[in-house]
Amino acid sequence: MVRPGGPLEGTVRIGGAKNSALKLMAATILAPGDYVLHNVPRISDVETMSDLLTSMGLDVRRPDGHTLRIHRGADVVPEAPYELVERMRASIVVLGPLLARFGYAKVALPGGDDFGPRPIDMHLKGLHDLGATFETKHGYLEARAENLVGARIVLEYPSVGATENALMAAVLAKGTTVIDNAAREPEIADLASFLNRMGGQVLGAGSSTIHVLGVEELTPVEHTVVPDRIEAASFLAALGIAGGEVTLEGARSDHMDMLVAKLGQMGMRISPSEDGLWAMSPRRLSAVDVVTLPYPGLATDYKPLFVAMLAVADGVGIVTENVFGGGRFRYIDELVRMGADIRTEGHHAIVRGVERLSGAPVKAPDIRAGVALVVAGLGADGETVVHDAFHVDRGYEGFVDKLRGVGADIVRERST
Ligand code: EPU
Repeated sequence: MVRPGGPLEGTVRIGGAKNSALKLMAATILAPGDYVLHNVPRISDVETMSDLLTSMGLDVRRPDGHTLRIHRGADVVPEAPYELVERMRASIVVLGPLLARFGYAKVALPGGDDFGPRPIDMHLKGLHDLGATFETKHGYLEARAENLVGARIVLEYPSVGATENALMAAVLAKGTTVIDNAAREPEIADLASFLNRMGGQVLGAGSSTIHVLGVEELTPVEHTVVPDRIEAASFLAALGIAGGEVTLEGARSDHMDMLVAKLGQMGMRISPSEDGLWAMSPRRLSAVDVVTLPYPGLATDYKPLFVAMLAVADGVGIVTENVFGGGRFRYIDELVRMGADIRTEGHHAIVRGVERLSGAPVKAPDIRAGVALVVAGLGADGETVVHDAFHVDRGYEGFVDKLRGVGADIVRERST
């Protein structure tokens, strides 16, 4: 339940990136022994990945707040069951490490979701280039590879998941792999640095061409997860709507260059501080056009946040989605119910800013859109009640408490 309040003020601690932590956890399949991961957020997607690794025979513990200890023994059940893949599509990233280490994997096929269809053809193409074969039966994908052999993989599109699966398979393949048109997200660079600490030889991660020199063995390591740029963006959006001045402790501004530039055009002042990012927002933002692209472009995950900000900004902004087909616009109907003036045309949304939204009961369709509806509530008269808030828990630790910490009028009604 959100109500509008005064400007936000204070400090928010930004946690580790969900989209890095999940992949690092999957990478522990690659070598037996004991791993320590620091800065792992307490979110339900991490619980799901823990459940998945546990179901495979790994031992996952959280001795204190943000540290995970993972023990990978000699025996691993190379199978990802439907209940877990269905709960979280990112489970598909166990495919690469399982194939690389055990030459076999059985993984439930992920279906579509609220973004529309989410194919895995590029994941399979990359692994196929390294020598894997596939069979699908009864909703499961069975993958086999007696030996993975380095190859040149050209991705049709810089898919994050396909790059990660290829990387985790190539690291133990025989010979050299070149991944061309690789995704460049900071979370990919974090995974590569984890693999290199384990003894892997990965060069160029974070750029479009990644070279991987296969090694025979890897060893477990201790690693700290990179900060979550999307969590940081979410608090910047809250600030953009409510106004005020906040410091985002732990945020990496060098991972958010385009975002910082865009928010600057909208009237926010943002600058790196000693341990993070300082940001100040005027009472009302100015509208801009926004186009989502693979990194270093503006992330598709920022899009609902921009739509929420534009809904109450001064002027008209056109938001164009280029990453996920025509989908990912469902939350817009909810914003319209709150009085937003938004028209969609294919993969474009035309947002005409209104002075104030009008608080209403709304429903979160996914993680990022859920957060966008919450921050929209900060710019709405009366009360906004966001239902299905469990989506937010998948990716955000203590979102409500952190917002309250900087002065937002928000409470969690019950644990759904
Ligand atoms: N695609 C294909 N075939 C494939 C793989 C992808 O057609 O084999 C398409 C997708 O359908 C989509 C586009 O390529 O249209 C990009 O998908 P990508 O593979 O890059 O995304 P992903 O790995 O499935 C990750 C994040 C998403 C984020 C996207 C894009 C994780 C766990 N998820 O997904 O984050 O939106 O990259 O940056 O890393 C979230 O955190 O809420 C979230 C959805």
